Amino acid sequence: MFSVTSMANDFMTAKLIDGKALADSIKARVKEQAAQLQNSRGITPGLATVLVGENPASKTYVASKQKTVQELEMYSVGHTLPADISQNDLLNIIRDLGADAKIHGILVQLPLPAHIDQETVLAAIPLEKDVDGFHPINVGRLAMLKTLSVINRAPLFVPCTPAGCLALIDASGTKIEGARAVVIGRSNIVGLPVAFLLLHRNATVTICHSHTQNLPAVVGQADIVVAAIGKPRFVQADWIKPGATVIDVGINEIPDATKKSGKRLIGDVDFENAQNVAGAITPVPGGVGPMTIAMLMQNTLTAAQRAGDLIA
Ligand SMILES: NC(=O)c1ccc[n+]([C@@H]2O[C@H](COP(=O)([O-])OP(=O)(O)OC[C@H]3O[C@@H](n4cnc5c(N)ncnc54)[C@H](OP(=O)(O)O)[C@@H]3O)[C@@H](O)[C@H]2O)c1
Repeated sequence: MFSVTSMANDFMTAKLIDGKALADSIKARVKEQAAQLQNSRGITPGLATVLVGENPASKTYVASKQKTVQELEMYSVGHTLPADISQNDLLNIIRDLGADAKIHGILVQLPLPAHIDQETVLAAIPLEKDVDGFHPINVGRLAMLKTLSVINRAPLFVPCTPAGCLALIDASGTKIEGARAVVIGRSNIVGLPVAFLLLHRNATVTICHSHTQNLPAVVGQADIVVAAIGKPRFVQADWIKPGATVIDVGINEIPDATKKSGKRLIGDVDFENAQNVAGAITPVPGGVGPMTIAMLMQNTLTAAQRAGDLIA
């Protein structure tokens, strides 16, 4: 089960929010429920991944999503397409997957090459198979206040990384309602949806970006900091309010001669020093990353359960 580990050293005060442990517990539950769905209704939750081009990070993400689907004994189909595929050919593949009853979720790995209109492609995914939550209608519903509790107006799916961030904040025991939350980054896939989710949970939310003035002072007011910037060790320890909960979404590769690969991954927060100030903090790796995949598995299961009319 999930654990928040208090670090022993006197200089290390932060609780480590163990995303891997939480993700493992979610995946174990999904595996069990997927098996039940198979036994009771003959439905195996199926996820199709669509990868366009040769972006190495995208290839790694898609490979680990497919591997996890297989580990959970669900059904997986992968389309790996050339970078110069035409938009029409890509749309035809998505339409075929949309009509395939064995596929309950379709994930188009972003970003897409520049000649393809991302929104047109995302809008071609049937709403009920939009397990990444990026269909314009699901995004719009997420943006609208007070809709999350109204079942027929709520987004059918919430994007996986933002949903994972909220689950990690909850798991840390941090109260979201009434908290001051600062989200650094306003991308469509992380910053903006995280901010909406926090707002819907009644946090007071500030969204920061590259034009924000005096970012350290803004961050210093936050009870909850979500860093989604894409710059290694960008958020400094002395910006953070003592005791704040820090969720580090960043995945940055840096050289490391001590590793066989010659590199390693670090986040957007200066973890080594921030853990002396924060109340709770996610590590990189082992924080948000595993949760993104776990939430995708959960969404795929949900899509299959809905296809079987087992849930609304
Ligand atoms: N763990 C996971 O599963 C997962 C999933 C997705 C992404 N990620 C990682 O999360 C990070 C962010 O991803 P993304 O897709 O959201 O990136 P993105 O689209 O490049 O957005 C980065 C955001 O950071 C802001 N920013 C850049 N420089 C800044 C500065 N100096 N001060 C304040 N804000 C600044 C940008 O502001 P402007 O809008 O003004 O340009 C932008 O809103 C990346 O490291 C990515 O690899 C991780």
